[in-house]
Amino acid sequence: MALVPMSRLLTHARQHAYAVGYFESWNMESMLGVIDAAEQMESPVIIGFNGGFIGHEDRIVTENIYYYAGLGRAVASHANVPVAFIFNEADNVPLLVKALKAGFNVIMHDHESCTFEESIEVNKYLVGIAHAQDAEVEAEIGLLPAVDMATNTMTAGENTDPDEAEDFVRQTDVDALAIAVGNVHMLEGQKKSSLYMDLVETLSKKVSVPLVLHGGTGVDEHDLKEAIKLGIAKVNVGTILRRTFIDALKGYYLSREVDTLDPNDVTSKGGEMDMLVFARRAITGEVIRMMNLFGSIKKASLFT
Ligand code: 13P
Repeated sequence: MALVPMSRLLTHARQHAYAVGYFESWNMESMLGVIDAAEQMESPVIIGFNGGFIGHEDRIVTENIYYYAGLGRAVASHANVPVAFIFNEADNVPLLVKALKAGFNVIMHDHESCTFEESIEVNKYLVGIAHAQDAEVEAEIGLLPAVDMATNTMTAGENTDPDEAEDFVRQTDVDALAIAVGNVHMLEGQKKSSLYMDLVETLSKKVSVPLVLHGGTGVDEHDLKEAIKLGIAKVNVGTILRRTFIDALKGYYLSREVDTLDPNDVTSKGGEMDMLVFARRAITGEVIRMMNLFGSIKKASLFT
């Protein structure tokens, strides 16, 4: 299978009562760790990068979005499972348009600093451009609280209003809608976010496009499974993959005398001593664990 429209993946997920994971990457190893998991588990998957991070004004090296797009397109087109490829959560509209040109087949605007009306205008504009080139748009109504681990603080969120969500989708024609229903961005550790199931159920009846749950790292597992039964078709996972990568590298360094090893073995040859393979495999393990929760394992073969 190659690159497919995300809406096809999400419709299939609803028909077969599972959710497709979006497992966010930041470099080649992290993306390969994700696709390895999808191939091994025969699971549909959404790969991609965070547009807010890639386009962040504080970056100290200049990024070329075409490099990221080229990698994702190559991974998707050589995969044996169906794959969609998203440029996620960017507030820079010209960059989102560039992402479409570069080869992402889904984009998502970060609406945090917009009013409802502004978000409608931006998304109408993006949908017009995306649909003209067989690409798609995800949007969000409501706002997730977000944890800042460094300062141990959490920003305020706002639950999705069902009438607003219905109206927004009708006016913009977006292809998928992310909702705020108790989920929290970047929530690590023991404390888990509980979901408002009544709100998930109401939204899933009112909104005509597939629903997306961001903040997959911190959602209570039982609630996650229930929400998928009620209509969540896509779950976004980010922070836990970055943590897994960091922990794998930390473990690697703590258990080896790196200064005595051949740098070619440590970084390049892909064997047991390669720290990048070590981290890639750790990501694969975590993605498989999440795919199990989402119920997407072995679903690729049902995809026609
Ligand atoms: P987490 O980092 O909380 O898993 O959220 C990821 C996300 O929602 C990306 O859009």
